[in-house]
Amino acid sequence: MIVLGIETSCDETSAALYDGSELMANVVNTQEIHRKYGGVVPELASREHLRCIVPVVQEALNLAELSWNEVDSIAVTNGPGLAGCLLMGISFAKAAAFAHTIPITPVNHIEAHLWAPLFEFPDFEPPFIGLIISGGHTQLWLVRDFGDYALIGQTLDDAVGETFDKAAQMLDLGYPGGPEIDRLSQSGDPEYHLFPRPASKSENFNFSFSGLKTSVLYFLEGLSPEEIKRHRADIAASFQKAVIDTLTDKTIRAAEKYGIRKVALGGGVAANKGLRSYLSSTAEKHEISLYIPSPQYCTDNAAMIALVGFRQLLQERSADMRFSAEPSLKLFHNDSKADSI
Ligand code: KG4
Ligand code: ZN
Repeated sequence: MIVLGIETSCDETSAALYDGSELMANVVNTQEIHRKYGGVVPELASREHLRCIVPVVQEALNLAELSWNEVDSIAVTNGPGLAGCLLMGISFAKAAAFAHTIPITPVNHIEAHLWAPLFEFPDFEPPFIGLIISGGHTQLWLVRDFGDYALIGQTLDDAVGETFDKAAQMLDLGYPGGPEIDRLSQSGDPEYHLFPRPASKSENFNFSFSGLKTSVLYFLEGLSPEEIKRHRADIAASFQKAVIDTLTDKTIRAAEKYGIRKVALGGGVAANKGLRSYLSSTAEKHEISLYIPSPQYCTDNAAMIALVGFRQLLQERSADMRFSAEPSLKLFHNDSKADSI
């Protein structure tokens, strides 16, 4: 069974072809237009998807050397995400499914991030703790099985990627800021300034990043432009270390609390080199196996949508055409069972 995956929930237009074992194509077009605005502009993002979706899907078919009549099914992100953006992918997917008489299945974007490690770790299997960290999400999941999820922690305010982007903006590093802070941090001193470790004292697994953002702002206000220029890398490294410590501490504690020896990462921030390295060494000390996809499967991509779509179709979780975009789509979960693993 060959599944065409389509992802348009934010600022990546992506199409992939997957047959259950081989990823035959994964085309990702990241929209550059938002750079000059310092963040994703939803209306522009929708228009870019409209402009790119046909060529992106065609390129995926060409790379996989497939024609439409060899596609058995379509999987498309229906949430969470930006309403207009989701609608572009869904409308295209429905039109293609109707025109070629093939079944279609909606896929939850967060669920897709959780399973992305499977491309590179074929033996990866539940139960595991999943940390999803992106521009819009910061969530800790307990995954017992495919379709069986418990949300055990989430951000109470800003998402971690958003915090990276805002800190980068304050340091004049452009957008998206996460990769630039990551790069600069490698030559900076993480001990230069001790920023607060958000919510580190609380026993639960929720996150809060707005205080850290404010403390970066106040710290910069106390420095002269020359000092900021001279210590830009040190400030970036100190900020990044505060984020890394928080994410690592909560994730490892969650694994210990639930007695789970596997941790998986997903979302754009999982591409952060400092986090990957510190979390890896900490996990090793705790005898926890870490599954971090390579960056192209951490950031938004249709490969992970096709993969989850494929598994849904195997479980006959397919749908008729009556689904639509759900910007705040929740992943089906049963938190009450979180303690009973
Ligand atoms: O998952 P993603 O591609 O899109 C969604 O938000 O859904 O994540 C984008 C976010 C941005 O905030 C970006 O700054 C951050 O991921 N990001 C990083 C890195 N690469 C991307 N943050 C820290 N370090 C990175 N290397
Ligand atoms: Zn995402």
